[in-house]
Amino acid sequence: MNLEETIYKRQSIRSYEETPLDDKEIGELKTFIENTKALNDNIQWSYDIVSKDKVRSILQWRSPQYLLLFSEEKENYRENIGFIFQQVDLFLQSKGIGTCWLGMLSPNGKYDKKNDGHKFVIAISVGYPVGEIYRNPDEFQRKALTEITDREDRKLRPLQYAPSATNSQPWYITHNTDGTYNIYREKLGLIKRNIVGRWNPIDIGIALAHIYITNRETFKFTMEDNPMELNNYIYEGTFEI
Ligand SMILES: Cc1cc2nc3c(=O)[nH]c(=O)nc-3n(C[C@H](O)[C@H](O)[C@H](O)COP(=O)(O)O)c2cc1C
Repeated sequence: MNLEETIYKRQSIRSYEETPLDDKEIGELKTFIENTKALNDNIQWSYDIVSKDKVRSILQWRSPQYLLLFSEEKENYRENIGFIFQQVDLFLQSKGIGTCWLGMLSPNGKYDKKNDGHKFVIAISVGYPVGEIYRNPDEFQRKALTEITDREDRKLRPLQYAPSATNSQPWYITHNTDGTYNIYREKLGLIKRNIVGRWNPIDIGIALAHIYITNRETFKFTMEDNPMELNNYIYEGTFEI
């Protein structure tokens, strides 16, 4: 299956077989990661692939391996990590390997690498699923396209299917008169901000990755100086497809 088709089939996997990916699979994963596109080339980032004894979490389940993601803390670094590693999420899922973005998991005391002093941002579980890896498009629980954009537009459908922390889908897209689009992130109240506030910028990067994967030749992303402001939303950027 290609990455584009995977958008409409993937799901978060939370039940895994014990067997870790073998050396060949890890090699292919590393090659894919090296060749991903960044949202912001100005930000250094790094990653590691570790076994489950190197992580801690209140979650009751474990996968045999985890991707730990690190970044320099500057500009839109969380969006950048979301954008790069959603390409990786689709790559793994397209090969029948299960994944789940995990805000509720971090490296434990046995993890002693420095990753160039980068900050730990988030993790992704990786492994072969127990049970079915894919689901049908009608099994996705997502907001209607009309709820997330000012004008219904089939080109935004891949974005509608993007995963997000607690399935919050914090994005809103507007159409500009020159044919470009603005993407905004929902401003949260205090309670929600404490729960998903840290992860919502990652969600925006994830959603943009779905737009990039379906428009690889034309996708361009910029941050405008004086974007249109929207009540209760934060401007995240402008894209062309
Ligand atoms: C940034 C981010 C953080 C997440 N953190 C967790 C988590 O800590 N635990 C968990 O079980 N799922 C987590 N998820 C998975 C979401 O709950 C899931 O993507 C969402 O409910 C949509 O379901 P789907 O991925 O199966 O389409 C996270 C997803 C994202 C994008």
